[in-house]
Amino acid sequence: MLVDAFGREVTDLRISVTKRCNFGCVYCHDEGLGPILRPRSPHEDEITPEEIERTVRVAREFGIRSIKFTGGEPLVRADMEDIVARTVNQIPDVSMTTNGSMLARRADALRSAGLKRVNVSIDAVDPKAFHDIRKGDLHPVLEGVRAAIRVGLVPVKLNMVVFKQTVEHIPAMLDFVGDSHGQLKLQLIQFMPELVDPHDWAVDIDAVKAWLARRAEKVLVREMHHRHIYLYNGTEVEVVDPVYNEEFCLNCHRIRLTHDGKLKGCLNRSDDLIPTRGLDDEGLRAAFRKCVAERVPYYGAYITQFPSRHAETAVPIEFPAT
Ligand code: 5AD
Ligand code: SF4
Repeated sequence: MLVDAFGREVTDLRISVTKRCNFGCVYCHDEGLGPILRPRSPHEDEITPEEIERTVRVAREFGIRSIKFTGGEPLVRADMEDIVARTVNQIPDVSMTTNGSMLARRADALRSAGLKRVNVSIDAVDPKAFHDIRKGDLHPVLEGVRAAIRVGLVPVKLNMVVFKQTVEHIPAMLDFVGDSHGQLKLQLIQFMPELVDPHDWAVDIDAVKAWLARRAEKVLVREMHHRHIYLYNGTEVEVVDPVYNEEFCLNCHRIRLTHDGKLKGCLNRSDDLIPTRGLDDEGLRAAFRKCVAERVPYYGAYITQFPSRHAETAVPIEFPAT
């Protein structure tokens, strides 16, 4: 088991398999490796299935229990099924975050390879709003979600970034998820301004949580990041709200591997990257230990001056009536 100096066990590895993406979401933080250059060309420096398999094998030795693949968009890689198959041989709990646009025709093979779950980024179920935000089409994404449900990658988690352009679409998204007979869950992700150009897009996420709490039959707190989960009418809504949130960082159990094989201890930092390419197994183990030894909670330890999360002055946001 890998534990950092703040007592945080590392149980989770998030692997970026590429920086490439066929969408151009206005908020994209590029997994903390910006600046984002579009159009993005294929990267010759992407980690290979063999390198991923070896990294996962060492992660398993250290007791890491779950793997999440991300991008860019993982499905721009033609070898994702192979990558998943090699990974589940080591650690069975394997999921993937995808923009969903290329999922429909690959869901079956990914499921057969052993993939357990998917997160599909969706932001709005209104096609125009979706296109304005993502620079891509909603229809193939919905097809992808349907295919994922059909092959049993359930429940499918829909990711929605909460910022000025999406707030008004939250109620419609809740209805969409609520009509899915438990096949869909919703994850509301607070817009993270740290890694993108300065935009005045943030909304008061505590007001969103208060709005959800008023409707919820039950509120649960998940161990990972102490994320709050709101349950009502069979709908499950998880809120991911890291910004200025010390509690979130203190309960972070995740490290990352970049598309070019560097271990990364924190989404928000790029000064802690540890190259692993070409290392032998012992070198790779040492890299894991070093990465974890150097981890510090971003808010509260690395960044100590920031506005309070619970400012009484926060302006409540307005939702349309439901
Ligand atoms: N703030 C919050 N979430 C973001 N994502 C990408 N950029 C940002 C940002 N600036 C989310 C997307 C996707 C996941 C990989 O990261 O919603 O689901
Ligand atoms: Fe970024 Fe994901 Fe959107 Fe692609 S789909 S632009 S990687 S957030």
